[in-house]
Amino acid sequence: MRLLITGGAGFIGSTFVRRRLATTQDVVTVLDKLTYAGNRANLAAVESDPRHAARYDFVHGDIADPALVEPLVGACDAVVNFAAESHVDRSILDPGAFLRTDVVGVHVLLEATRSAASQGRSVRFVQVSTDEVYGSIDEGSSHEQDALQPRSPYAAAKAAGELLVGAYEATYGLDTVITRGSNTYGPYQHPEKVVALFVTNALEDQPLPLYGDGLQRRDWLFVDDHADAVGFVLDHGLAGATYNVPAGQERTNREVTAAILAALDRPWSLVRSVPDRPGHDRRYAMDGSRLAELGWRPRVAFEEGIQLTIGWFRDNDAWWRAIKSGEWVDYYERQYGERLARSVEA
Ligand code: NAD
Ligand code: DAU
Repeated sequence: MRLLITGGAGFIGSTFVRRRLATTQDVVTVLDKLTYAGNRANLAAVESDPRHAARYDFVHGDIADPALVEPLVGACDAVVNFAAESHVDRSILDPGAFLRTDVVGVHVLLEATRSAASQGRSVRFVQVSTDEVYGSIDEGSSHEQDALQPRSPYAAAKAAGELLVGAYEATYGLDTVITRGSNTYGPYQHPEKVVALFVTNALEDQPLPLYGDGLQRRDWLFVDDHADAVGFVLDHGLAGATYNVPAGQERTNREVTAAILAALDRPWSLVRSVPDRPGHDRRYAMDGSRLAELGWRPRVAFEEGIQLTIGWFRDNDAWWRAIKSGEWVDYYERQYGERLARSVEA
């Protein structure tokens, strides 16, 4: 297949590209805007390996740019859309960027897919979405047919993107599938997200800012599993279907923090309880039986995945130190400066 991988220089997208080139004969074009979260270094292993580089191309640009997107979509067999503004805290600081990419960008990609279809070319469209579209769930697990109740600007933008995908499938008969992944962690994750932030802060003996009481629960999916699930749905998903991608590895934020500190042999006194995220979702949990019936299950337990992740960050400090400079310094001050000043023992 010829694949257009949007957002392929980000955390999960670059993992998908590396793994897909290694396991198939697909030809891959990455389209990425290289925002603060996009990083060409995430694709260095592909670009320096002649076996993979021969089937790979990189285009620097915006999914919301119709003139750029239309010929790229017209030349591929499938689009896998990882491109997004992806961090909840940044969506609270600046929601506009989220609407531009996660809603308008999806619309531009869908229009290009519709245009290809009108010329007799069927292009499969895979929208990589998130469990956050369900909103917070105190007990039980969310099923694909449940109502969408997003509660952050990020989650609302992702839900809107999904709804557009569904509308284009129903109205224009496009071949679409949607994945809803749970909280993902692993190598190459931007240090704004909690696991990468806490691992790198602990390595520097800096405070770990735990929001509120730290008893929020997430289901932790290792990045290789997330990338493989998206590939499986690309290959086997039924047209028009949505698939939850849970890990079955639910932990509180306190448990995740304790696991990181134990693996790095750092004291709990590094953890600071800071004022909570506004509208903080308490818990996400999804039912994974639809994807299991199709034939896919996650492989990596949290205890194994967190060791792999910590080992990678320990071995690749040049990668994350480069990110934790420049734009990062302003962001960190905006997000954590006052919070840490008001922090208490956790
Ligand atoms: P990320 O922030 O690491 O990467 C996003 C990538 O998209 C970056 O390379 C960025 O440069 C690119 N991008 C942003 N705006 C763009 C635009 N307008 N045009 C082209 N490229 C653009 O994100 P991630 O954590 O790898 O997440 C990838 C996808 O998976 C997102 O759609 C996200 O909503 C979804 N998701 C993430 C998680 C998670 O825990 N990280 C879980 C479930 C779903
Ligand atoms: O659930 C899937 C989602 O997971 C994805 O759609 C998002 O793209 C991804 O960013 C992630 O969202 P979360 O908000 O759950 O992830 P984050 O790493 O920001 O936070 C995880 C938990 O840790 C959450 O309860 C908030 C808490 N947290 C986070 C940060 C950054 C802290 O306590 N302190 C922090 O500094």
